[in-house]
Amino acid sequence: MSAISILVMNGPNLSRLGKREPEIYGSLTLDAINRGIAGAFPEVRFEFFQSEHEGALLEKLFEIEDRGGFAGVVLNAGAFTHYSIALRDAISSIKVPVVEVHLSNVHRREEFRHKSVISAVCNGVIAGFGVESYHLGVRALLGSLGRR
Ligand code: DQA
Repeated sequence: MSAISILVMNGPNLSRLGKREPEIYGSLTLDAINRGIAGAFPEVRFEFFQSEHEGALLEKLFEIEDRGGFAGVVLNAGAFTHYSIALRDAISSIKVPVVEVHLSNVHRREEFRHKSVISAVCNGVIAGFGVESYHLGVRALLGSLGRR
């Protein structure tokens, strides 16, 4: 079987993991999280991307859509989740499936985090399991392809 490619993409402030509100987001850096994901799924070819910029996230989605060969995207869009119609439109414009993930349980937090403008155009949503949310996102994509 050929290797599967998955993009793990993180939005604003997630570059600060490890330093940022560890009581909410845990103490692992984004690099450590990404290494953990790669180690847990050796059969998958991962690409990792993070940006503080909305447009850069859109461009990355278009890039992998046009390159082809990607089984899906595991996306933690950070605060863009709650208000970026541009990100929503980009996700709904591509064919590659996107799984929305969050480290924290956004529904247990401030009211403005309860609404996601991207959920409706994602294949599914996983929130509240810390680093495990990303792993579950990868598992969901592999499961939908019958690969786990
Ligand atoms: C987050 C939740 C968002 O509300 C917040 O803006 C983030 C991180 C999470 O992973 O729990 O930056 O997406």
